[in-house]
Amino acid sequence: MGPAHAVVETEHLGKSFGSGVKEVQAVTDLNLAVEQGEIFGFLGPNGAGKTTTLRMLSTLLRIGSGRAVVAGHDVAKSPRKVRERIGYVSQLGGANPQATGWDNLILQGMLYGDSRKSVIARAGELMAALEIEEFAKRKVITYSGGQKRRLDIAMGIIHRPEVLFLDEPTTGLDPQNRANMWSQIRKLRDGGTTVFLTTHYLEEADALADRISIMDHGSIIADGTPSELKGQIGGDAITIEIAESASGEAVMHTLSSISELHSIAQDGLRIHCYANGGTRILPQVIRTLDEAKVAIESIAVAQPSLDDVFLKFTGHSLRDTKVEKEGGA
Ligand SMILES: Nc1ncnc2c1ncn2[C@@H]1O[C@H](COP(=O)(O)OP(=O)(O)O)[C@@H](O)[C@H]1O
Ligand SMILES: [Mg+2]
Repeated sequence: MGPAHAVVETEHLGKSFGSGVKEVQAVTDLNLAVEQGEIFGFLGPNGAGKTTTLRMLSTLLRIGSGRAVVAGHDVAKSPRKVRERIGYVSQLGGANPQATGWDNLILQGMLYGDSRKSVIARAGELMAALEIEEFAKRKVITYSGGQKRRLDIAMGIIHRPEVLFLDEPTTGLDPQNRANMWSQIRKLRDGGTTVFLTTHYLEEADALADRISIMDHGSIIADGTPSELKGQIGGDAITIEIAESASGEAVMHTLSSISELHSIAQDGLRIHCYANGGTRILPQVIRTLDEAKVAIESIAVAQPSLDDVFLKFTGHSLRDTKVEKEGGA
């Protein structure tokens, strides 16, 4: 294998919407490099700026500031060259619901100027790979979420792009369809396609992405492989849920007397802290809280997750962020 090189690279990429007091800084000073053949994940809550970034990288939205190079071409200077080399699957997908999956796929292939014969051959290949033959001749409007998503992906890769951008590929899918989608995405990666996806699912980023950038409020707050990111936490995560009557500050103060605990932080009724050998230290934590007469609802020890990483950098949990309907995009 030759040395990996960046297929997507950004320098100080930014975008704001509106002006004056209504200005929204959607993406700020984004620097990233996605290497060839990897699954790169953007993990962040709703409104973090994931879709805005993806739309700039795929030439659908004008770059606000900075620059981006995708598949060897500057996005602002050579948008057409970039478009030929990428696939983009939006969160809603681009299939015409009144046409069949097959017709959608053929039309999409023809848009790239290939002959009908070669498009038909390629569509057949993709239908087998993505397991969509069974329902290909039905109208898309009759598809389940998982079936529609597979068609969206087939449409996104019919022209054999070097890079595939997937915006929230599994939002709204049940666990079984999500697992199926993960294996399809891995197959794409294993076939040589670079995949750049966004997600607000911690487990998805952890299980699927080779490397992750965690985004919040338009900026990257941490990046690395999932294990590198979790390794930054140092020790096990201990989560203490306190009773509503308890004072968070008092609990934090009590916990700070235990020298093995570090990074003690409050997030609503939950206190998060970390310790090496979390299970071993648990009895001491419970005893100490008990002696201080702190009412707790529950206490749990777990291996650190990407949510602990998010919490460490933002002070709040990604799991708790309200998932709203996507606006604008
Ligand atoms: N066309 C638009 N006009 C105004 N604001 C927008 C537009 N698109 C996105 N935004 C705002 O930019 C921010 C980032 O949005 P988005 O990129 O969609 O985030 P994400 O995909 O991570 O949920 C949000 O505050 C959103 O409301
Ligand atoms: Mg989005």
